Amino acid sequence: ADLDDYIVALPKAELHLHIEGTLEPELIFELAQRNKVSLPYDSVQSLRDAYAFTDLQSFLNLYYAGASVLITEQDFYDMTMAYLKRAHADGVCHTEIMFDPQTHTERGVAIETVFAGIAGAVRDMQRDTGLSSYLIMSFLRHLSEASAFETLEAALPLREAYDDVWVAIGLDSAEVGNPPEKFARVFQRCKDLGFRLVAHAGEEGPAQYVSDALDVLHVERIDHGVRSEEDPALMQRLIDEQIPLTVCPLSNLKLCVVDDMAEHNLARFLRQGVLVTINADDPAYFGGYVADNYRAVAKSLKLSRSELAQLADNSIVASFLPIGRKAALR
Ligand code: ADE
Ligand code: ZN
Repeated sequence: ADLDDYIVALPKAELHLHIEGTLEPELIFELAQRNKVSLPYDSVQSLRDAYAFTDLQSFLNLYYAGASVLITEQDFYDMTMAYLKRAHADGVCHTEIMFDPQTHTERGVAIETVFAGIAGAVRDMQRDTGLSSYLIMSFLRHLSEASAFETLEAALPLREAYDDVWVAIGLDSAEVGNPPEKFARVFQRCKDLGFRLVAHAGEEGPAQYVSDALDVLHVERIDHGVRSEEDPALMQRLIDEQIPLTVCPLSNLKLCVVDDMAEHNLARFLRQGVLVTINADDPAYFGGYVADNYRAVAKSLKLSRSELAQLADNSIVASFLPIGRKAALR
């Protein structure tokens, strides 16, 4: 309990969080009922029991099915507000939230609805508690480059209305077979438009995808990146250039990226001087929010309190906040 209090009290940012991955089974059932969407599960428990994953794709199948209950602006608001309250309880002072418009527009939900619901909750939470959030609009890499461009063009008319929160572009979904190169042109366009850039790389995919995310997509931060360890030159570059990695320990365990938390390379990365951070990824599916992730690695990797504090401080440094606000939070 003492360690729990210490972890919660650390000023920290959460930088790798998929808002659709915060939909708890209870809320999935509530929204299904509200929207008269039928689910192939007869109870909250039977849905939760299905959360036994063997790899990224086995999770993504359920994650996209779960998101099918999101129809109205209120649904997106309720999902986002539920997450923000959990994050606030964990002592998170800033979040950078990923959302996947294509998951919703492909089902006929307007992109305006998605933005309005998520940003509405983010603004209300900031007004009421001071917890700030930025939004990272992410492209699904299993879909085409053309679909990513269409999504960008559909979102751009909203940019001005959401310029207080929508600051970045990301890349997620099935990694292997969908290399960074596939999105080189759309990321170049986003860079030219002045967006901050991140991409998932080196989760299931090879270290080469991490190098290519940096060199071809020009991202500033890597989501996951745990397989970078397979390339010593890349590791040295991550250290020299202080390129942040947003690591998600419980996710890695649940998706069998690591077999045992005691073998997670987070502690080695940290001790070598990589700018690693701890994040929840999809907390409703992976058995824990951000403080649970800190707790899990503290225990399994025997991290000291000063190492936990370093990880939390890294999250502020690696955020897209202006330097003045970073300094105020550290
Ligand atoms: N979408 C949601 N969570 C993801 C993850 N861990 N990797 C890739 N795509 C995702
Ligand atoms: Zn992720």
